[in-house]
Amino acid sequence: MDKDAIFKLRQDFPMLQKKMHGKPLIYFDSAATAQKPLVVIEAIDQFYREHYGTVHRAVYELSLHATEMYLAVRSKAQSFLNARKKEEVIFTRGTTESINLIAYSFGKAFIKEGDEVLITEMEHHSNIVPWQLCCEDRKAILKVVPITDEGTLDFAALEKLLTDKTKIVAIAHISNSLGTINPIKQIAQLAHAKGAKIVVDGAQAAPHLPIDVQDLDVDFYVFSGHKAYGPTGIGVLYGKEELLEQMPPYQGGGDMIDTVYFEKTTYAPLPLKFEAGTPMIAEVIGLGAALDYMNKIGVSAIQEWEQELIQYATQQVLDIPGFRIIGQAPDKAAILSFVIKDLHPLDVGTLLDLKGIAVRTGHHCAQPVMRHFGVPGTARASFGLYNTKEEIDHFKMALLEVIAKLKT
Ligand SMILES: Cc1ncc(COP(=O)(O)O)c(C=O)c1O
Repeated sequence: MDKDAIFKLRQDFPMLQKKMHGKPLIYFDSAATAQKPLVVIEAIDQFYREHYGTVHRAVYELSLHATEMYLAVRSKAQSFLNARKKEEVIFTRGTTESINLIAYSFGKAFIKEGDEVLITEMEHHSNIVPWQLCCEDRKAILKVVPITDEGTLDFAALEKLLTDKTKIVAIAHISNSLGTINPIKQIAQLAHAKGAKIVVDGAQAAPHLPIDVQDLDVDFYVFSGHKAYGPTGIGVLYGKEELLEQMPPYQGGGDMIDTVYFEKTTYAPLPLKFEAGTPMIAEVIGLGAALDYMNKIGVSAIQEWEQELIQYATQQVLDIPGFRIIGQAPDKAAILSFVIKDLHPLDVGTLLDLKGIAVRTGHHCAQPVMRHFGVPGTARASFGLYNTKEEIDHFKMALLEVIAKLKT
């Protein structure tokens, strides 16, 4: 994408036209949540105004049409991830719920006392705590692959920690606090060679690089709609059919049943077995519009542009005194986590906000990563398809002013 294309794209995002503290908003927090293009906002608005009805249950036209619209998004998500079947795509509330579902349900079906679950030191809390709960419940052992000071996985340790007892390897495709892109295909092969399954937390990857779950040969892949230019409250869980078939439901209720007797209930086939209750209908419609939007631009084109941005930003900050990048993996997404010598990230973030620049500060739900690097937190500038090099130039200027102010 060239500069003109990006400036045109930016017009699609109402929030990017806003001013903060009287300055044009520079939004560098897409890793937390992405801004929404008008097509997503309008799809939800139009659905509520003109097509709103429940799905699955009713015979009247409105409901049938809403059901068609809803199911069409499942097919879109299937092709977005290149899943074999639409039955392998389950709608959840987000990455967090998807991982909790897998940890609970896979745990019940496949993990027993003395088994091992392998996660990594760079995981988001969403890919740590559900596995701790699972291990407590199943009396299994949680093991953690350490990271290097560059922010990459310690592969030698990974190979040692993977044993015949490992049932699950749960790992982020891209670290939200470091930007590291993990070689998922290779890790899936290692896991499978030991008879383990792999769960990939794709929250930071799905909006930023093309995903092909068949090529990666992963058993589960999850992401959140709101980081992928879609609405909050919707997420996707991909799972291999043969595993999902053997896993018990996560929640019970309407829609997920076949027959209900007080003595015994039988469950609906996939994917409904895992979708209890009235689903997030409008959010699913919004997600569909977001996937269409990304596909129209091309996820590879988005990836290329964001790579240009991170390389540019990394160059620009080199000569800022005391600037330390946390996370310097050779294969890295558009996430720039940093600390500045003698300054607290919170102060840096607060003063940048006064200049209209939104960066995230804190531990980014990755406290073990912060401990590894011996920092209380970082400031994090993360880019989306709509960011520009000019914004990075403004960011640098603003940062120099902030540093000068905080150091006087
Ligand atoms: C790597 C990673 N995993 C999981 C999550 C949790 O996503 P959500 O809060 O949308 O469930 C996030 C969100 O920041 C993330 O970056």
